[in-house]
Amino acid sequence: MQQPERLKNVKRPETEETVQAFFSSVARRYDIANSVISMGRHYGWKRRAVREVNPRPGDKCVDVCTGTNDVAVMLAKKVGPTGHVTAVDWNKDMQDVGDFKIKKFGLQDRITNIQGDAEALPLPDNEFDRATVAVASRHLRIPKHFAELYRVLKPGGRVVVLDFFEPPNAIFRNLYFFYSYHILPRLGNLITRDRTGVYSYLPDSVKLYYKPEDFAREMEKAGFRNVKYYPLFHGVVYIHAGDK
Ligand SMILES: C[S@@+](CC[C@H](N)C(=O)[O-])C[C@H]1O[C@@H](n2cnc3c(N)ncnc32)[C@H](O)[C@@H]1O
Repeated sequence: MQQPERLKNVKRPETEETVQAFFSSVARRYDIANSVISMGRHYGWKRRAVREVNPRPGDKCVDVCTGTNDVAVMLAKKVGPTGHVTAVDWNKDMQDVGDFKIKKFGLQDRITNIQGDAEALPLPDNEFDRATVAVASRHLRIPKHFAELYRVLKPGGRVVVLDFFEPPNAIFRNLYFFYSYHILPRLGNLITRDRTGVYSYLPDSVKLYYKPEDFAREMEKAGFRNVKYYPLFHGVVYIHAGDK
């Protein structure tokens, strides 16, 4: 699968085994690590993504790369008892943590966790009103993944992707990369006791990742209409949205 030229040198996880090892290693402490590393902001970013995708009561939603189900829980609260959320991830350890969260919120009837690959979703065509993906795109071959999101959405359905990008402002970018290279990996490793190197991989992957505008173009290439994107927190993260 083609990636932009500047991704050639990124230390991407080459195999499913590597990505699985990352997330199995951090699963039990993933939520607390996220809260510390993002200084509590990740919940606000996820809430914003959910507001943007705008699930209505009764909607069928899919949260791809759901991890520990944060976004799935937010979607489930919005779709109400007549709606449903299918939450897909290929890592069982992350989903086990998510299962606790689903029970804690009493949402067992509204969320189904299924194991599957974001590049070959085990889901029917034209099934969902809304689709979300949070903080997972860098692990995926984007054209294949976007084609799958497009396939499973109903005509008129909406997708929202939340992810990290390189901040556009030079001063903030330098601060951000200082934090990402020197503080984030230490904090991440300390909290999760990770030895796979996931927290050191993240800053390189942000630096060498798609630009927000190229990412939007990939959405359009997959067929999405009305594609828009905007930054949160000085462009550390962006929301991309599109309609089928
Ligand atoms: C950084 S976590 C994000 C989890 C969650 N969306 C959140 O925002 O907290 C990335 C997740 O993507 C999952 N993942 C990575 N590649 C995947 C793939 N090809 N198919 C399914 N899940 C994948 C990982 O297992 C992990 O749970």
